[in-house]
Amino acid sequence: MIVLGIESSCDETAAALVRDDGLVLADVVSSQVALHAPYGGVVPELASRAHMQNIVPVLQGALDQWEGKLADVDAIAVTNGPGLVGALLVGVQAAKAIAMARDLPLVGVNHLIGHLMSVYLHREGDDHRAPQLPFIALVASGGHTALYEVRSADDVEQLGQTRDDAAGEAFDKVAKLLGLGYPGGPRIDKLAAQGDGESVALPRPLRRRGNLEFSFSGLKTAVAQHVAKHGRPEGEQATADLCASFQGVVVDALVEKSLLACTLREVPRLVITGGVAANRGLRARAAERAAELGIDLHVPPPRSCTDNAAMIAYAGACRLRGGANDGLDLPVFSRSPILGAPEGSPARKRYRSMRLPRA
Ligand code: KG4
Ligand code: ZN
Repeated sequence: MIVLGIESSCDETAAALVRDDGLVLADVVSSQVALHAPYGGVVPELASRAHMQNIVPVLQGALDQWEGKLADVDAIAVTNGPGLVGALLVGVQAAKAIAMARDLPLVGVNHLIGHLMSVYLHREGDDHRAPQLPFIALVASGGHTALYEVRSADDVEQLGQTRDDAAGEAFDKVAKLLGLGYPGGPRIDKLAAQGDGESVALPRPLRRRGNLEFSFSGLKTAVAQHVAKHGRPEGEQATADLCASFQGVVVDALVEKSLLACTLREVPRLVITGGVAANRGLRARAAERAAELGIDLHVPPPRSCTDNAAMIAYAGACRLRGGANDGLDLPVFSRSPILGAPEGSPARKRYRSMRLPRA
């Protein structure tokens, strides 16, 4: 089965063709970073308009890359939440139009489940190793930071999440404070590599608590107070030192809480994904600590960690294999159907419409 995936939940317009075993046949991502950079964050109305302009060229680009035709596609998967409603609508409407014209099955995919599934993506010639089930997964992106236990083929449980800012949001806000531009993650990542992480003492939120929650807004405030007191660091080395100190605290929280989840759940396998998983400091620290503790670590390549449509196509393939077909009535959700469900409801804890490989 070949699935066409479409992603437009935030500021990336993406389309991909993926075989139902996770082999990526084509993967096109059009980023709106330059469009939003002057505003220091994503402007929803501009994002929707840019998706409108980009969606057809991106879809055509994916088909060209694959050298296949729409007639050879077996099903369509599209992100239908969580995300910016106007942005989501563009991808969902495009998906519905193709499904209707071609009479194809159509499934909606939760963006976060898409990130979780990115670990199953592989390319021709890759030395790919899928994690065994169950595994613990950290999704750290611009909009979400949460831990999950992916326990069996159709059972994903959320273990904890951030109480306030997402990790990527903290990177973006701190970069803005330091005048580094948007998006902040990649810029702080680059500078932090040359900095001294011990140079500025910053608070370590929820460090000693045994729970699986994160908090990053106090850390961002501490950086703001440091800048208010001492001014923006002067020169590249001083900026790099502050970036390294900030990144070190975030990375430590993400890695230690993920490992704590592995210990508490007695699951010695960890997947780290989402845009922040592109961070070199995080990748290095996670590898080091996982090796120390004998945890089997899986971190997809950066292009699979940041927003893309291949992960959506594969997550869609899992739902299609389970017999799902949402059809042309597919709704759009601004909040996560998992996170947005009422406290205590079964949906809050579990997302049961998946069929993951037993590998
Ligand atoms: O998953 P993603 O592409 O989009 C969302 O679903 O949010 O994540 C984007 C976030 C942004 O906040 C960006 O600053 C962050 O991921 N990010 C990074 C790096 N690359 C992207 N954060 C830290 N280090 C990076 N190298
Ligand atoms: Zn994302």
